[in-house]
Amino acid sequence: MAVLSPPFKGGPVATILTPSPDNLRRAVDALRRGELVGMPTETVYGLAANAFDASAVARIFAAKDRPSFDPLIVHVVRPAGPLEREVLSGLEDQGVVEVSRLPQLARERADVLLRRFWPGPLTLILPRGRKIPDLVTSGLDTVAIRMPSHPVAQALLKAAALPLAAPSANRFGRISPTTAAHVVQELGDRIGIVLDGGASTVGVESTVVAIAGDGTLKLLRPGGVSVEAIEATASVRLARAPVTAAPGIPAASPGMSGVHYAPRTPLHLLPGPAELPRDANCVGLIGVFASKDEAAGIVAEIERRYGVLVVLRALTQSGDLEEAARNLFTAMRELDAGDVPLILAAPPGGTEGLALAIADRLRRASH
Ligand code: TXA
Ligand code: MG
Repeated sequence: MAVLSPPFKGGPVATILTPSPDNLRRAVDALRRGELVGMPTETVYGLAANAFDASAVARIFAAKDRPSFDPLIVHVVRPAGPLEREVLSGLEDQGVVEVSRLPQLARERADVLLRRFWPGPLTLILPRGRKIPDLVTSGLDTVAIRMPSHPVAQALLKAAALPLAAPSANRFGRISPTTAAHVVQELGDRIGIVLDGGASTVGVESTVVAIAGDGTLKLLRPGGVSVEAIEATASVRLARAPVTAAPGIPAASPGMSGVHYAPRTPLHLLPGPAELPRDANCVGLIGVFASKDEAAGIVAEIERRYGVLVVLRALTQSGDLEEAARNLFTAMRELDAGDVPLILAAPPGGTEGLALAIADRLRRASH
């Protein structure tokens, strides 16, 4: 696996900064020098660098231990005024995208989606502009674009006047961060500044949608915007990309590798393994529950089956999928930091709303 990874040896710990005008200026100066900044977004915290600067982007891959065949999302500022056709034309003028290469139907679909969902947790895969370095896109001729709604992300993008490449600010394959403190836990010895924007309100990453030349829309990653909402807005069905590629066939989205978002503690989807690790006297339980009674019932069942104590981290006990998404990565991280030898997970049923994204993250965390 090609990993761009210089040795990091317990460097100084990153500073968490409140997003005051002075601190935003500090962050902008760092970005202009080619350094990395931890950036809050409504989905998860990102590790941001100037998207036009290949050596700054190389630092992202190094800090995350991320393989260089996994392309990044470029975050863009919300322009003043209404989000009309001009958004993509403006990005084309800046060399970020080249939407003039899109046939009319595909272009119209992109415009319809961004008018409805930007700023917010939707990432669109568009023809790549001339100023985006190869490293950002892993050499693909497309680039992933997202306009985050988080006010601190927007303030930073505006002050920097640069598009910012930013993957989630975790080490490769680990749990995504949803607070500034999580970013310090993941990357504190590798970056200087994390802007504090509070806890991410969506809690799962953006939905990634590719627009083919014929206007076909394909779901590359379920996320913060539901499939139904996208289909209703675009009046067209979303094709589903296979989650992991068949052997020998490249994944539709290079980042869709099987194991991801993984705690260090083994995580199994219910009903769980036949036997627990020897000497285990407790297990963690994470999941989406329709009610307190349902959660209690599942706890009792696990205690009966394994004869151990259950440490419950309910993502929701009222079937509220937005609440569940918001709590997902923090709950996973807390259980992982405790001393349970095994985590069991109860994914949401169905595919409506955020269920698809939550089930996807739990499945990919299981190992
Ligand atoms: O919510 C989010 O999207 C967060 C925040 C920080 O904005 N970012 C994030 O980035 O999740 P990352 O790097 O962890 O995920 C990027 C996803 C990967 O699945 C990657 O493969 C896909 O986007 N991607 C990026 N460029 C692509 C391209 N040109 N074609 C297909 N997939 C692409
Ligand atoms: Mg990620």
